[in-house]
Amino acid sequence: MAKILAFTNQKGGVAKTTTTLNLGVAFQELGHSVLAADLDPQGNLTMSLGLNPDTVRPSMYDVLTGGVGIERVIHQRELDVAVASIDLAAVEIALSSLIGRERALSKALMQVADRYDYILIDTPPSLGLLTVNALTAADAVIVPVQCEYLSLRGLAQLERTLELVRENLNPRVHIAGIVPTMYDPRTLHGREAVEVLRSSFGDLVFQTTINKTIRFAEAPVRGESVLKYAPDSQAAKAYRQLAREVLNGKKI
Ligand SMILES: Nc1ncnc2c1ncn2[C@@H]1O[C@H](COP(=O)(O)OP(=O)(O)O)[C@@H](O)[C@H]1O
Ligand SMILES: [Mg+2]
Repeated sequence: MAKILAFTNQKGGVAKTTTTLNLGVAFQELGHSVLAADLDPQGNLTMSLGLNPDTVRPSMYDVLTGGVGIERVIHQRELDVAVASIDLAAVEIALSSLIGRERALSKALMQVADRYDYILIDTPPSLGLLTVNALTAADAVIVPVQCEYLSLRGLAQLERTLELVRENLNPRVHIAGIVPTMYDPRTLHGREAVEVLRSSFGDLVFQTTINKTIRFAEAPVRGESVLKYAPDSQAAKAYRQLAREVLNGKKI
C-alpha cells in the first residue's frame, strides 16, 4: 500500500508545489512508483506537468464530489498526476453538507493505493476542507517553509489543525519534517531564519535546505521538473538529497 504524504503550509508561495513535483521525481529516480495528486484549485502542479487546469476534465473535483473513479483523472506525465481544475474551488460548498466530507480524498486514493509506493498530495494555501481532506488521507506531512521570518509564524496554526485532525479524523498523521526552501545563504536574513527554524523545531527540520535559484521558475514553463530540466544543477541535487533524507529518516 502506498505511503501518502501531504505537502502543506497555509502560506502561499513557499514551494509546496515545487517540492511535491521535484521530490516525487526524485523518488521515481530511486525506483519508486509515485502518484502526485493536485488538490489546489489553482492547478499549478497540473500545469507544471504540462496539462491545462482550465480545460482538463474530469478532475479531482469530479472525484471528490461526483464519485468519478480517480483512475479517470490520472494522466501519465513525468509523474502520474491526478489533475486539478479551477472548479475545485467550489468543492468546499459542494461537499459541505455531506456526511464524511473530510474523507472523500482518503476514500478515492484507496482505489489506487495498491498501485503506487508513494502518493504525494499538493495542497492549497489554506487550512480549509481540501487541506483537511489531504491531512485525513495522509500518513505524514511535509511542510515547506520559506526562509524568512514572516513565514515561520503560520506553523503554530498548522500544528493546531493537525492536532484536531488527529483527534477526530486520522490519529496517525504527523509532521515528517520541515523543508527550508528558497534559502539564500548570502543574506544574513536567510541564515538567521534557518537558525530560528532549527532552534524552534529541532530535529523536525530536514538537514537539506533548498537554495533560491531561478531554475525553479524556468522548469515549469517547459512542463518539466528541475531534475529533468537541469539534471546536474544544485537545485536538482538538493531535491535528490532531500528524497534520500525523507526515505531514510523513518519518519514517514
Ligand atoms: N528554491 C526556489 N528558489 C527560487 N524560486 C523558487 C524556489 N522554489 C520555488 N520557487 C518559485 O517560487 C514560486 C512559488 O513556488 P510554489 O512551489 O508554486 O509555491 P506554493 O505551491 O507553496 O504556492 C514559484 O514561482 C516557484 O517557481
Ligand atoms: Mg502551490
